[in-house]
Amino acid sequence: MTQGKANEQQQGGRPGRRAVLTTAVLGAGGAALGVAPAASAGERRGGGIRSLPVPTVIAHRGASGYRPEHTLGSYQLALDMGAHVIEQDLVPTKDGHLVCRHENDITGTTDVADHPEFAGRKTTKSVDGVSYTGWFTEDFTLAELKTLRAKERIPGTRQENTLYDGRWDVPTLEEVFQWAEREGRKRGREIWLHIETKHPTYFRGIGLGLEERLAKLLRKYGRHKKHSPNFLQSFEPSSIQRLSKLVDAPLVVLLSSAASRPWDFVEAGDPRTVADLVKPEGLKWIASYAQGLGPTLDLIIPRDASGRLTQPTTLVRDAHAEGLILHPYTMRNENSFLPAEFRRGTVASDYGDAFGAFKVWFETGIDGIFTDNPDTGLLAAADFRKG
Ligand code: G3P
Ligand code: CA
Repeated sequence: MTQGKANEQQQGGRPGRRAVLTTAVLGAGGAALGVAPAASAGERRGGGIRSLPVPTVIAHRGASGYRPEHTLGSYQLALDMGAHVIEQDLVPTKDGHLVCRHENDITGTTDVADHPEFAGRKTTKSVDGVSYTGWFTEDFTLAELKTLRAKERIPGTRQENTLYDGRWDVPTLEEVFQWAEREGRKRGREIWLHIETKHPTYFRGIGLGLEERLAKLLRKYGRHKKHSPNFLQSFEPSSIQRLSKLVDAPLVVLLSSAASRPWDFVEAGDPRTVADLVKPEGLKWIASYAQGLGPTLDLIIPRDASGRLTQPTTLVRDAHAEGLILHPYTMRNENSFLPAEFRRGTVASDYGDAFGAFKVWFETGIDGIFTDNPDTGLLAAADFRKG
């Protein structure tokens, strides 16, 4: 299987961290917690990674549990809920602009199929060894892409979100940086982002390399520094290595299922799998150029055949021993995504015991978590801190 498809806090070297957490989450998550927002340690300008609340609540594709993903509406709701960090996935347009979509195939998250003028652009492509039929960002100029409207990816599970279909367009990364600047000025604090390069080897192969374009935009908006309020992430280690030479912002290597191989490894003939990368030698190698890991939750606590959680692996301890933080993905409130013991009732789209699941994940010592439901995650994080 290829990457991207399967879907302790560090005790050493972090003085005063617990004290930081106590004030930081209350400040950053005030809206969600019913507490008046206030300036806090976690909101200080220029504080870097160590100023973030732990556990850090990362809004996965924005507040995608409530709004169509990767829209300014989804990002705004996540920020208003108090999410500590807001995620963007990046793909390019034909004319080289970086836009926020989870994949270049925009069939499922835009109304492109309803545009007769683009009917001829429908095509079949192989991306990272998988065949897709649909419409692709790299076949549209930004001006053309801007005529499309975003829609809910999983309407069968999140019917309520379809209320917002058509309300927002596909944002560029530059628009997100400008939005973050405006919101930062209004709130008197930095707005943290978590920016992922999607299919970087594929795009470099068609002349649309992502990293240089991303680095240029980061520099333009002063987000390229060691203490800039953004993480840069990728499932392809070579993308992170390339970024490490272009900018000083914190870097996170994403890890898919244990049996998978990053696509750049496949292309380069590197035989290592994710199972190799989570061994101490692999972690040491990652720590030589990155500051963190974004593992699938199953690498932290695997599930058994019935979908129930088993025993935690040593990944949190081992990664922390190498100085790496962990931001695993993805917690979602619906039964269909939860471990079996946290499901409630028989309706897949109903919410299960998400608070119970968050608690188990936080108890493993992770530094943060990607979630489609940042409001739930913030309350769970506050519960966890209280013990
Ligand atoms: O980037 C962390 C998480 O978002 C990885 O999964 O496939 O949703 O980008 P994906
Ligand atoms: Ca992502």
